[in-house]
Amino acid sequence: MNPLSRRACLSLLALAGLSSLSIAQPPQPAKTDGGGIKQTFHIGYSQCNRGEPWREQMDKDIKSNAAKHAEIDLQMKDAQNEASRQMAHVKEFINAKVDLIIISPKDTSLTPAVAEAFDAGIPVIILDRGLEGDKFTCFIGADNKLIGAQVGKWVKETLKGSGNVVELKGLSSSPPAADRSEPFRAAIKDTQIKIVYDADMEWLSDVAREKMQAALSRNPKKGSINLVYGANDPAAIAAYNAAKDAGREAEMIFVGVDALPHEGVEAVRKGILNATFEYPNGADKAIDAAMKLLMGKKNEVQKKIILGTKLFTKDNVDKGGEEVKP
Ligand code: FRU
Repeated sequence: MNPLSRRACLSLLALAGLSSLSIAQPPQPAKTDGGGIKQTFHIGYSQCNRGEPWREQMDKDIKSNAAKHAEIDLQMKDAQNEASRQMAHVKEFINAKVDLIIISPKDTSLTPAVAEAFDAGIPVIILDRGLEGDKFTCFIGADNKLIGAQVGKWVKETLKGSGNVVELKGLSSSPPAADRSEPFRAAIKDTQIKIVYDADMEWLSDVAREKMQAALSRNPKKGSINLVYGANDPAAIAAYNAAKDAGREAEMIFVGVDALPHEGVEAVRKGILNATFEYPNGADKAIDAAMKLLMGKKNEVQKKIILGTKLFTKDNVDKGGEEVKP
């Protein structure tokens, strides 16, 4: 039975309230469990860059959540920040006729590869960075526009409506970059807050550090930069370190996004960051959605699953941050 007709068959059985375990097995390795034959679901997972702390955590969470389901056979791949390598992952998954793909794409250049998988009848779950069009099964991510707007609101209140800001933006070819920037700018528009320097730090801490060094040398007077907004915590922390090297960190406020417990939240606790907004990676939801899709319960999976966020500051960090509402 080919994977397509198998999927169709699973859906029909689920509709009829029957278990997938009772149907004929596809020609795939089956696992035995206490003597019984079990279905094996082959999931191809492609991460765009495991070398970043937030993505390392996503991989760990995907792995641990998948491990709760004995039926899942997970193939994990790391594109090491190369979009072409990630496109090749998707092609390999299509050729291998995996049952489902989970991808956290580098940027929108992955759109055609994902569409090809979707057109081949493979369910695709996208995590974090969105693609163009609607050729995917499910997108899971937090509301970056809400985060951008909330950063703007926080900055406006914290600077009491006036001051000079450095904005270190995410990779421009990835949607969260504009989504975190435009609403931020809209929120500070009618104030005396000025953006004195901005740059694309490509989501990478090394690049952010260089850009911050440039911001400091273009604004050399002490007190000429009041706040740095890093679109992720690695950038905000790198900016702090660059300012510290220049002996200027004390004159600035630093705000970032991600709030990993051992990274951004820890930096707030240590007084490196003044604030960070949580950006959950959605790994648990991805495995949950994958299982539903694989068990033929497609109608239980929404096309877009939008996750919440939290603000962490030194005042609320010990209480676990505070929920942010639109
Ligand atoms: C990691 C990362 C996170 C950020 C997300 C945005 O690559 O930069 O730090 O929140 O991607 O897509």
